[in-house]
Amino acid sequence: MADIDPVASEGTVKYGILKTLEDITPAVLKAMAPAEDPRLREVMEAFVRHAHAFIREVRPTEEEFERGLEFLNGIGQTTTDKYNDAVLFCDVFGISTLVTMLANGMGGPMEPATALLGPFWRLGHPITEHGASIVRCDTPGPQLHAKIRVIDNSGKPLPGVDVDVWHASSVGMYDVQDENQIEFNLRGKFITDENGSFHFRSIKPVGYPIPTHGPSGAILAAQKRKPQRPAHLHFLAFKEGYKTLVTQIFVADDPDIERDVTFGVTPQLMGDYKRETGPAPWPDVTGEWYSIDHTLVMVPGVATLPTPPIA
Ligand code: BEZ
Ligand code: FE
Repeated sequence: MADIDPVASEGTVKYGILKTLEDITPAVLKAMAPAEDPRLREVMEAFVRHAHAFIREVRPTEEEFERGLEFLNGIGQTTTDKYNDAVLFCDVFGISTLVTMLANGMGGPMEPATALLGPFWRLGHPITEHGASIVRCDTPGPQLHAKIRVIDNSGKPLPGVDVDVWHASSVGMYDVQDENQIEFNLRGKFITDENGSFHFRSIKPVGYPIPTHGPSGAILAAQKRKPQRPAHLHFLAFKEGYKTLVTQIFVADDPDIERDVTFGVTPQLMGDYKRETGPAPWPDVTGEWYSIDHTLVMVPGVATLPTPPIA
């Protein structure tokens, strides 16, 4: 938090005495105008304009205002190093998906195959050999062989891309939510080979309910919304010189594919999970198993890592 400069703040503009209901919005805008950072000025002006318009439309009672503040405080109070209610709140109201769509050029010349990060990405995924399993403790489920290729937007394979993969278990929980899973179960970091490829073994993902014990869950319940995400794998691909790709690959026939509680599903994110009955790539698997063959596309840009929502 920056200290207020006492000398500079002496020059705070006078915005006058408020005489009517209409005076307050321009007064706040005027008070904020000295901000030097133009983006801060732009963002905060829009925030105040929209927030005041919202209040004028909704006309909250004082009790409702207090409830709203409690709700906001509750988001912070329930957030821990394993659970992030602020991310969840933005996810379940479509805010994260909208930010992702706009930041990745949706509506422009190329429809992006990007998705929200979600609250469960963490740093330190174990580097995993190609072909190895990311199932690190007893985790039942149909076996999955995933073959992933990373290319750029001109179709050139990209070697040396760090790709984090993570997904929920067959009971619908990530490692950090479930004391029966070992750390980093169903997570791995793969580095693409000279063909931009890697492959791994896991279990076919299942749909799962998002956590509902915080304020975001309470509002979902009040809105009678099913807190369910359709089955998906998560990917975060990182390479210097390319915009970091955050995406998900969905199981198209999941019954909840058209009612993802986080509004994360677009046509570009459908995966072709195939049921296989021939010999599996591993001798211990007999009977049916699943395969997926999928290409991720990265575009030139700045490689940055998001702030991990959990530790
Ligand atoms: C996830 O896919 O991991 C996720 C996304 C949003 C809310 C909860 C979970
Ligand atoms: Fe997920």
